[in-house]
Amino acid sequence: METIKLKKLIDRMTVAEKVGQLVQLTPDFFAQGGEITGPMQQWQMSEEQLGTIGSVLGTHTAEQVYTIQTSYLEKSRLKIPLIFMADVIHGYETIFPIPLALASSFDAQLVEEVAKASAKEAAEAGIHVTFSPMADHVKDPRWGRVLESNGEDPTLSAVLTAAYVRGYQGTDALAENKQRIAACVKHFVGYGAAEGGRDYHTVDLSDLELYQNYLPAFQAAIEAGAELVMTSFNTIHGVPATANQPLLQDVLREKLGFDGLIISDWAAVAELMAHRVAADRTEAAKKAFTAGVEMDMMSDCYLNALEQIIDADPAMNEQLNKAVFHVLHLKNKLGLFEDPYRGLTPENLAPRLLKETRLLSREAAKKTTVLLKNQALLPLQKKQKVALIGPKADSKDLLGAWSWIGKQEEAVSLAKGLSQKEIDLTILPYPDGKVLTAAYIEEACRLAEQSEVVLLALGETSEEAGEAASLTKLSLSRNQEALVAAVSQVNPKIATILFCGRPLVLSAIEPLCQAIMIAWFPGSEGGNALADLLMGESEPQGRLAMSFPRAEGQLPMTYAQLSTGRPLTEENSDQKYISRYMDEKNDPLFSFGAGIGYGQCKISKTQIVHPDEKNKPFELICTLKNEGDSPHTTTLQLYSRDDVTEVARPMRELKQWQKINLAAAEETQHSFYVTPEDFAYVHSDFSTKSDPGTISLYLGFAAASAKLIGTLTI
Ligand code: NOJ
Repeated sequence: METIKLKKLIDRMTVAEKVGQLVQLTPDFFAQGGEITGPMQQWQMSEEQLGTIGSVLGTHTAEQVYTIQTSYLEKSRLKIPLIFMADVIHGYETIFPIPLALASSFDAQLVEEVAKASAKEAAEAGIHVTFSPMADHVKDPRWGRVLESNGEDPTLSAVLTAAYVRGYQGTDALAENKQRIAACVKHFVGYGAAEGGRDYHTVDLSDLELYQNYLPAFQAAIEAGAELVMTSFNTIHGVPATANQPLLQDVLREKLGFDGLIISDWAAVAELMAHRVAADRTEAAKKAFTAGVEMDMMSDCYLNALEQIIDADPAMNEQLNKAVFHVLHLKNKLGLFEDPYRGLTPENLAPRLLKETRLLSREAAKKTTVLLKNQALLPLQKKQKVALIGPKADSKDLLGAWSWIGKQEEAVSLAKGLSQKEIDLTILPYPDGKVLTAAYIEEACRLAEQSEVVLLALGETSEEAGEAASLTKLSLSRNQEALVAAVSQVNPKIATILFCGRPLVLSAIEPLCQAIMIAWFPGSEGGNALADLLMGESEPQGRLAMSFPRAEGQLPMTYAQLSTGRPLTEENSDQKYISRYMDEKNDPLFSFGAGIGYGQCKISKTQIVHPDEKNKPFELICTLKNEGDSPHTTTLQLYSRDDVTEVARPMRELKQWQKINLAAAEETQHSFYVTPEDFAYVHSDFSTKSDPGTISLYLGFAAASAKLIGTLTI
């Protein structure tokens, strides 16, 4: 439909119909069969109001979408199709590794492919918009939602956030390409900085921190064309983000140039009352709407109060029309006015899952698994006598949070994956999520004693990581540490395979394990992928997108810390009045970027070539040598430090990275190109620019261990 027609359509709408377009409800509102019961009754909704609603979230099947859309269109006066949205976070029915794992691939192309495949399955199930990617900057794994993040580095996160958007939306018009869906980047803004890592808790950020670390991933998503932005639950600068006019108008609309639809998070408009910044629904609706929230997800504030607010203040009509335009424009972009079903027909409503999507999930799990330690224990040898022990040994709880359509029963467990390999395997499973008993630990020790290698499959359950899954203790729970300790007494050849949605505190078990492999929640094909890796048929390629702390007391933490006035150095490590802990080291147990494969390579030569002309890039050349006799894939990471700055800046920041495949014994040369703009940062006047001066460059295979290779003068 042409834009002019959309505007004419808006002219024909009553205020109540306009308000209806700004409301998003769950499918149960539409499943009443004409009777006003359940949720409709609770919200005192009329049948007429139901016929004005703009959007539905969280349908489960194409059939459900088809049925709701059909009966809605029959009843509604203007026949504006509903737009269907859902949380397609790491796959729809075929589940991929969790986003934190995907981030650990350091592979934007993989993320784009995963998002594209997720979009296809979701679109075939009638979904038009996904509430993904989550662009929240994170540095505190007590917050369970780090699972959905791209980790602690704002540059990596920005690159990957954009890749998700490209993958979901594609580059062609959404109306033409019905296998793509629109992306909603979330949560604007600061949600990841919840105090104490407690979900929904207060956030207090400096503007400098906001601009430097929290906005870049949103900016990248917007530049990649994200159609929607979701506001966050938290307060920021003292005002809930959902009622924060300066942030939504001056920052999101003006500075970031976002011109799409702004939607609240679930019931966040009504929660303005719980925040106690609104006395009632009317005030909540008024505050959120005036701030710039256009669609009210699952609250009755807009539904039951916005019409009166507009009637009382006709000047607000302009804003109302603008918000409605954003909704209709999005529906139009998706081609819903021409085809409200977006390709669904009564004949094609059954799911059409592709084998390729499962294969991509298996590939993704291999590229995201992080091997953190290996004292020549892995890969397993053929015929080796292997014991597989622990609550995750035969568990299918491998999908993780936000896999609500994915079928757990179709996930491949580690036991299943390994039983297809040529090893002498004995499995001692245990119910996932239950406290390990002394009897089980005893039996595990007996089995371990008779085995050459012990695989301990440990970790969290899906419920323990994700939304509303904050923790104060990040060590392995339910006697899992006791299991490691007991088994290590009888057989030191332990490889721990850890399933988790966040960095855990592994200080107690790390010294007792000869190998540690972080499997995250690896998705539908987890067991197969891990079996391939454990057998050495593929090499683990993941590198940590988030540091693993030594202790909870270090949190929040990021490798990109500021120097402080009293930095800890090797020389002063015995002194007291230094920025340090008395009872723990400052650095993490495993740093951002850490991870090994089965091979090993070395940086043998480095050279910095200064450009002969101004405005040309600096070239950093290095030689990499595979020191092993089999192929090896690594992730070479370039970090920088601006030596003297106007505002205090981190000791190290990731600038670029390259995934490099090396044949056995191969030696190759690689170049990174950097320009002064790459070192631009946010100054105290909020301008983003680089300063003349020197930049130290570090190259290596993890944030903590990258080595100084020289300086540039810009
Ligand atoms: C609440 C979550 O915070 C958000 O991320 C999600 O998209 C919505 N619920 C919808 O399910």
